[in-house]
Amino acid sequence: MARKPAAAKKPAKKPAATKTGKYEYILAAKRKGALEITFNRPDKLNALNEPMAGEIMDAMASVENDRKILCVILQGDERAFCAGADLSGFSDKPAERYDNYRARYNTRKNRLLFHYVQAFTKPVISAVEGYCLGGGFELAMFGDIIIAGEAAQFGLPEGRHSLIPGAGGTQNLPRIIGAALAKELIWTARRIGAEEALGLRIVNHVTPKGKALAKAREIVEQMMKIGPLSIMMSKQSIDRGLDMSLAQGFQQEADLSYLLTWSEDRKEGLTAFAERRPAKFKGQ
Ligand code: COA
Repeated sequence: MARKPAAAKKPAKKPAATKTGKYEYILAAKRKGALEITFNRPDKLNALNEPMAGEIMDAMASVENDRKILCVILQGDERAFCAGADLSGFSDKPAERYDNYRARYNTRKNRLLFHYVQAFTKPVISAVEGYCLGGGFELAMFGDIIIAGEAAQFGLPEGRHSLIPGAGGTQNLPRIIGAALAKELIWTARRIGAEEALGLRIVNHVTPKGKALAKAREIVEQMMKIGPLSIMMSKQSIDRGLDMSLAQGFQQEADLSYLLTWSEDRKEGLTAFAERRPAKFKGQ
């Protein structure tokens, strides 16, 4: 559980992938309906820094209007999905405090990313192997589905640094597992394994080590048979509805359902059913 003393550290592992192409801290590739974003700071356990957060948002923005891309998969490497916000960026000079306050709300990418993921109109699946801690865990919770390899470890250890989970963790975790358990995990900084996370409904599936991405891809393949507009609307209905009264939730569901009336895909879906053939959706 405890960090190894610096002297006993193994030499940093060779990066999982070479930093080439458009981005420095991530790799981004389109594959069968998904944009797969691989965090690529293996020597820092994929800790999130400002440029990395900006790159993730840039890559996601580039597929928002790409109709061939139905969803985004986030992943790290075998050792870490992401060990949280980069702790080396936590300095605060007294003379800059109010500038920092503004930046936290409006420009700091490490904060904007979480809300960007939450509001993304396409599903975000996190394929987690290894450490998924602090901001890494909070990022996965802002997404829609988490798949865990059996050696994955989840935790919110911010209290150890006298911080609190400040990227949604104190709000999202209690909504998933209940307030009492969330408080215990945050107040003890205990890391939980994949099976325990499954039992707590934090993750949808546990796979053998190294197979979380394969399971995420399998889910994407199944989603490809569903109308993409239907997925967008039901995602919004569920996410917004969790924060509304039940009556408001029913009303917005009716409105979002009606919005699909004008789509060509709805017509195609119903025609294909009547003609006993698979539907061909266009996302319009
Ligand atoms: N921010 C910046 N760097 C981080 C980091 C983070 N959140 N998490 C790990 N790293 C860096 C380490 O500093 C180390 O870098 P170095 O080799 O240049 O010194 C490298 O990643 C490997 O981590 P190390 O601590 O040596 O590995 P370990 O196997 O001994 O321990 C952890 C792994 C995950 C238990 C430990 O790294 C840790 O506790 N990380 C912080 C997790 C955290 O508190 N996250 C919440 C942040 S708000």
